[in-house]
Amino acid sequence: DSVTSKADDLNKKKILITAGPTYERIDPVRFIGNFSSGKMGYAIAEECASRGAEVTLITGPVNLTATNKNIKTINVESAEEMFQESMNIFPQMDIAILSAAVADYKPSHSKDKKIKRKESEKITIDLTPNPDIAASLGKIKRSDQLLIGFALETNDEEANAIKKLEKKNFDYIVLNSLQDEGAGFGKDTNKVTIISRKGEKVAFGLKSKKEVAVDIINTVLFSNFHK
Ligand code: CTP
Ligand code: CA
Repeated sequence: DSVTSKADDLNKKKILITAGPTYERIDPVRFIGNFSSGKMGYAIAEECASRGAEVTLITGPVNLTATNKNIKTINVESAEEMFQESMNIFPQMDIAILSAAVADYKPSHSKDKKIKRKESEKITIDLTPNPDIAASLGKIKRSDQLLIGFALETNDEEANAIKKLEKKNFDYIVLNSLQDEGAGFGKDTNKVTIISRKGEKVAFGLKSKKEVAVDIINTVLFSNFHK
C-alpha cells in the first residue's frame, strides 16, 4: 500500500471532485451547514492534478484555495447548486469522486427577511430532503466511467458502507473510520478503508489527508482491484 505517485500517470484524465459542506439558507443571514473543512476533497484534487489529470472541483463554502493550474474550481453554496453543476459536468468526465458532506435536508421555505426573535414563542424549521447527488450520478453512469463515494458510519460500518455502494451504484466506497480521534471533520488526518464493488477491501492506517489521497487514487486506478 505504499506505492508512490508517478508524475504523469493520470495524464488528461477528466476527474470531477465534490468537496466541502453545503449551506442551506434559512433566511438572508442564517443557514444549516456542517463542520466539513473540504480538506480531503482538496487533497484529492491536488493529487490528481499533480499527476496530470484535468480536475473540476465543485466545492461548497470552505477556507481553502486550489493551487494547481489543472484544477478548475466551481464554487457553490447549496446541495441543489452542487447537484445542478455535477449533473451538467459528469457526462464529460472519466471519473467522479464525491467527498462533499452534502446536507441531507434543506429548509422547506427560506425566508427573504431575517427571522425576528420573539421571547415568548418557540419556532420550528420545516425541512425537505435534498437531491442525492451520488445516486443521481450513479443512475446516469456509463460503463466507461468510475464513480467513487465516501461513507461515514457510526455503527455496522462496513455493512452500511457496502449497502451505500450498492444503492448509489458506486464502483468504490471510501469508509471514513471514526474509531480514531485524529480522523475526520476538520482534522488533517484520516483513517480509511476502501471497498470495491466486488467486495475487495483494503484498510489503511491513520495518515495525512494528502497521503490518504494518494492511497485512494492508487487503489481505485492502479491496484489489481477491478470493477
Ligand atoms: N452524497 C451526495 N448527495 C447527497 C448525500 C450524499 O452526493 N445528497 C454522497 C456523499 O458525497 C458521499 C456519499 O453520498 O460520497 C455518502 O454520503 P452519506 O451522507 O454517508 O450518505 P447518505 O445517503 O446521505 O446516508 P446517511 O447520511 O443517512 O448515512
Ligand atoms: Ca448524509
